Amino acid sequence: MSQEDQQTLSEEMKADDVLFEELRAREYARLDAAAQVYLDFTGGNLYAASQLAAHQKLLTENVFGNPHSTNPSSQLATKLVEETRARVLAFFNATEDYTCVFTANASAALKIVGEGYPFNSDSSFVLLSDNHNSVNGIREFCTSKGGVATYVPVFCEDLQVDEEALDNALAAASGKTNKLFALPAQSNVSGVKHPLRMIRKAQDKGFDVLLDAAAFVPSSPLDLKALLPEFVSVSFYKIFGYPTGLGCLLIRNTVFHKLHKPWFAGGTVAFVSVKNPSYILTENHERFEDGTLNYLDIPAIKIGLDYVSSIGMARISRRVKALAEDMVAALSALKHSNGQRLVRIYGPQSFAQRGGNIILNLFDHTGKAIPTCFVEQLANKQQVSLRSGCFCNPGIDEINYEITEEEISQYFTSNDDKSVEEVIAHLKMMRGAVRISVGIATVRRDIDRFCALLEPFCDKSLDEIIALAKT
Ligand SMILES: Cc1ncc(COP(=O)(O)O)c(C=O)c1O
Repeated sequence: MSQEDQQTLSEEMKADDVLFEELRAREYARLDAAAQVYLDFTGGNLYAASQLAAHQKLLTENVFGNPHSTNPSSQLATKLVEETRARVLAFFNATEDYTCVFTANASAALKIVGEGYPFNSDSSFVLLSDNHNSVNGIREFCTSKGGVATYVPVFCEDLQVDEEALDNALAAASGKTNKLFALPAQSNVSGVKHPLRMIRKAQDKGFDVLLDAAAFVPSSPLDLKALLPEFVSVSFYKIFGYPTGLGCLLIRNTVFHKLHKPWFAGGTVAFVSVKNPSYILTENHERFEDGTLNYLDIPAIKIGLDYVSSIGMARISRRVKALAEDMVAALSALKHSNGQRLVRIYGPQSFAQRGGNIILNLFDHTGKAIPTCFVEQLANKQQVSLRSGCFCNPGIDEINYEITEEEISQYFTSNDDKSVEEVIAHLKMMRGAVRISVGIATVRRDIDRFCALLEPFCDKSLDEIIALAKT
């Protein structure tokens, strides 16, 4: 970066500090009023006070009825739902190219793809080993039809995808029909933003592409006109916190008819007879929206999108990246007096391809891993919200703990009664990590509070740390 660009960036970041401090005071005052530190933005974003006020005003001042009727309350609901649908498409630069199907969340969007994709005995489902379980689960739809599911590994050093392995997996499916490739735009665990050029690469090999954008879109602009994946999954509460219970599936119009709808329900059919088994499905988004839509909350999506757009997604992205960099620098500086680091952060060193979530483990001064539950216990006591575990993404955990296929297979072939506790005992190792994620409401004192929480771990043995967490 040139000196001039660096100067501009540092001025922009200073302006960001001012803006996001103001936002914190105005929109997220409840955090400081309750002396809370929130570091779980990848779990769920926080809503701004103005979003609630705008939604409450809308509900208080209007009469809404079940959509798709001619009565005025119904017509108003229909109008706002369709305006919101158009707003969602515009937000992702997907107008004209995509159909927006409202769902309960990203998982429900992914299930529509899994259930409806025409998997058969000749199918190939290629996916990264860094995927949320709601994507991993699609393999069951594929393999139950006789198709093959293939995982593409990520490197244990930096959790980035092994693109050579991807090339091989795509090439191995040459000549097959109905091929689907699934990737997360951003890992919900490591924060790695996977290269989106993989979309085109897979399409060139005859694959349809499912882009799970759930962890990416809260802090990165997504331009679907430029990328054109066939399917995209999103949860709205991850972008702006409110409302929960709503997501969407974006289906590229060119493959709309490729997805099979395995049943029909109220709202999805244009014609049904009870005297004859035939029925005619609707030819638009309604086909996949079973029953009555959440018509009171859907307009709050538009309010949320307007809110984040008023700040600017590029600005949110720059801010989150700066905060994540600060967090990593501050955590890396925590050391025992023997020079060993307290914190090990997984993933790439460079921030060029990282988002706002970071996973880490802590080690005592002898190098023993500190079980994540003790970190979480201490954080809970100090009103710091973070998350520990495997985050519904077992692939990354297996890589970080270097668990082999043989070790897992050995347990599953030699045990009739299977339980999670037994798997962990069999593997004889700690599992999981601590995840911290920053977002729109984070300010630098949150990072300071988190580091202050960990500081007492320095120079302590594991037993002393456990005692500390229990007091
Ligand atoms: C990358 C990714 N995909 C899918 C999901 C599932 O989202 P939801 O639980 O809202 O269905 C999540 C949730 O954390 C996620 O981070």
